[in-house]
Amino acid sequence: MKPDGTIKKIAINTGGGDAPGLNAVIRAVVISAVNRGWECFGIRDGYNGLMKPEEYPEGGLIPLKRCSVRGITHLGGTILGTTNKGNPTKYPTLGPDGKMREMDRTDELVEAFKKNKLDALVALGGDGSLGIANVLAEKGIRAIGVPKTIDNDLDKTVITFGFDTAVSFATGCLDRLHSTAEAHRRIIVVEVMGRYAGWIALNTGVSGTADVILMPEIPYDINKVALAVKAMEKRGKHYGIVVVAEGAKPLGGSVSVVGKELGRAEKLGGAGERVAKELEPLVGKECRTVVLGHLLRGGSPTTFDRLISLRFGAAAVRALEEGRSGVMVALDPPTVRYVPLNG
Ligand code: F6P
Repeated sequence: MKPDGTIKKIAINTGGGDAPGLNAVIRAVVISAVNRGWECFGIRDGYNGLMKPEEYPEGGLIPLKRCSVRGITHLGGTILGTTNKGNPTKYPTLGPDGKMREMDRTDELVEAFKKNKLDALVALGGDGSLGIANVLAEKGIRAIGVPKTIDNDLDKTVITFGFDTAVSFATGCLDRLHSTAEAHRRIIVVEVMGRYAGWIALNTGVSGTADVILMPEIPYDINKVALAVKAMEKRGKHYGIVVVAEGAKPLGGSVSVVGKELGRAEKLGGAGERVAKELEPLVGKECRTVVLGHLLRGGSPTTFDRLISLRFGAAAVRALEEGRSGVMVALDPPTVRYVPLNG
């Protein structure tokens, strides 16, 4: 920090599941910061580069210059690495009894920011990562959030970056599945990511002309799904596509979970297979499952995602310049505005 309180050195990090557009945001942040004469550093793998720098022989903090972010706008993934296991509010830590447990280690993280003379943080993440940024802001770190997630499950922004790419890819998959489903007179159940929100399922299902869309917000009755398939048959359509959000659950039932590890959210999986298994005997047709899973997170961001990512990155730096902290940049067309992280 300069003697007048203005910024000299900022950090960027990417947390949680990766999403197409992360690198475009990083590029915009770095260029906007460098243009203001600020130094920029990337924290490796969420906050791990600061929490356990000894694990990074090349350094847990990477200097980011204009040349470090050349030619990365179109790249998927994140040049900084990410993790969904390193939440510092619930950090898996060995207790005195020799057992691993979740511990709040945000004070150590705040100390690491100070030790490295970082004046501010731009945190790119979903609900988990932005919650951590909020804790840091409350503990005195100047922090700005940028809404990232293919799930589009963040409040107060019309859209998160990564969502458009995921839906475009999933829609392309549905286009391909129609012809093979028709050729074999099958029902193809397509499971998509989205956690506890049905945005990906709904948008993919509508744009890819699915026959049935099951999403977490509306628990389903498998008998009604079967009736819809039978009605299709009656109309002479002998194949179908059923889109199932990974977080979809039956009426009175629960979400399909494949596991829970210390320090991270539960892993969802199996929702599509469950629907296919239950539907097959009810409709008397072969029901096959395709899980799109992590394919939705890979690849180049769409033009839309590149553009909002670049806008979000530039807006995050403007927010810091204006002296803001504890806010997230949000798309509120036609503008990008700031909303509180804690609201
Ligand atoms: O939040 C993004 C997301 O891709 C979810 O849609 C999905 O449930 C989760 O991350 C999967 O994360 P992981 O990388 O741990 O499999």
